[in-house]
Amino acid sequence: MKQIKLGLSAWRMGYHIAAWRHPSVQPDGSMDLSHFKAVAQAAERYRFDLIFMPDELAIRGEDNPEGARSRGSHVAELEPITLLSALAALTQHVGLVSTGSTTYAEPYNTARQFLSLDHLSNGRAGWNVVTSWGKEDALNFGHLAAPDYNLRYERASEFVDVVRGLWNSWDADAFLRDKESGLFFDPQKMHVLDHKGDHFNVRGPLHMARSPQGEPVIFFAGDSEAGRDVAARAADVVFTAKQTLEDAQAFYASVKGRLAANGRTEDELLIMPGLMPIVGRTREEAEAKHEALQNLIDPLIGLASLYDRLGDLSDYDLDGPVPEPKDPAFRSRAEVIYKLAQKEGYTIRQLYMALASGRGHRVVIGTAEDVADAMQEWQEGRAADGFNIIPTHLPEALDDFGTLVIPELQRRGLVRTEYDGTSLRDNLGLPKRGL
Ligand SMILES: Cc1cc2nc3c(=O)[nH]c(=O)nc-3n(C[C@H](O)[C@H](O)[C@H](O)COP(=O)(O)O)c2cc1C
Repeated sequence: MKQIKLGLSAWRMGYHIAAWRHPSVQPDGSMDLSHFKAVAQAAERYRFDLIFMPDELAIRGEDNPEGARSRGSHVAELEPITLLSALAALTQHVGLVSTGSTTYAEPYNTARQFLSLDHLSNGRAGWNVVTSWGKEDALNFGHLAAPDYNLRYERASEFVDVVRGLWNSWDADAFLRDKESGLFFDPQKMHVLDHKGDHFNVRGPLHMARSPQGEPVIFFAGDSEAGRDVAARAADVVFTAKQTLEDAQAFYASVKGRLAANGRTEDELLIMPGLMPIVGRTREEAEAKHEALQNLIDPLIGLASLYDRLGDLSDYDLDGPVPEPKDPAFRSRAEVIYKLAQKEGYTIRQLYMALASGRGHRVVIGTAEDVADAMQEWQEGRAADGFNIIPTHLPEALDDFGTLVIPELQRRGLVRTEYDGTSLRDNLGLPKRGL
């Protein structure tokens, strides 16, 4: 039976927008190595294939309505590659995947950072390629806005090629380090990239030995046609956000369908949608856990989450109806959620609560069997090869998943009970890679 791949998105103190206020959560956890150590070691105890770090290059979002920003926890966090390098020394098996932008970095630096993480962890590193869309990110790198969409993807595509080229600077057996003869490496086994392209000129070679797993694993998070093309050509794993089985199946078929044209087989690229499980021993208990978190959402934060689509609603009654968007600046973006509010009869408070939980990812609230069924259905239905688990709050929601759902998945033979390799590629069942 094919096994379900499992990532844990170990972001901050969890994904729920009120996570930091939960009684079990250490509120300065996102700045504290001991918080991440506990999370990473628990992920390893539950036999996750990898932990995954999203990243942003700025404090995103305006302070709208005024005062909302000072109530959000996203303003203080550690740089993820540095953090994962520390976690490499505190774990043995779990993969360590960080997001890295192709818009605000140079390929030589990125190649070097991820390959260093790979060596420090004995072959457990992965790079989640993103193109960074935020205006706030742009402002920190000398731009007034994020570069044009097509330009970002052209650059991303070339960027990934350069990084992979640099990772292939040396054959695996290039370094002789022969004290007797005095020969440190075999010059035949060193490859100078000499890349000259539209966006980059990079000579190489990278001054670092080849990865213990051939190349670090490449993740790609992007949904557009351009994104799917780059993924099918260069990625090992695609991280995506899909709500329904039909949408996930269509995405799966679309990305896998592009592999043959790139000379690749279906098994060489894994698709892992995000999944937020809220697990209880009974469905009532799971619902109660969800509600407890929802009740912690500060109204200003709730309103801020609606701001970019509905504007400032702070003068309206939270428990009254959602007003029709009048400002033309918001009208086009507001339509979907305004219609949702009307259809469901949501108040403003109910609307932000309904949108708050999964940040666009699928949310499953129920027992271990419910969550395992939901995962199995998508895997068997060719909608997913695995899941990036998006915990509401850390580490408690991870422990709920690990102690309740993992044993159920193991009982069904859907996930491993022991690690059987040493590298992230081994964990994911991916072949060693090289150009
Ligand atoms: C599931 C998922 C996760 C993402 N994670 C990040 C992230 O951590 N940091 C970031 O800057 N962008 C992230 N992105 C944004 C993408 O890199 C990209 O800029 C955006 O999705 C627009 O491209 P697209 O239309 O191809 O999806 C993510 C996108 C998706 C779909």
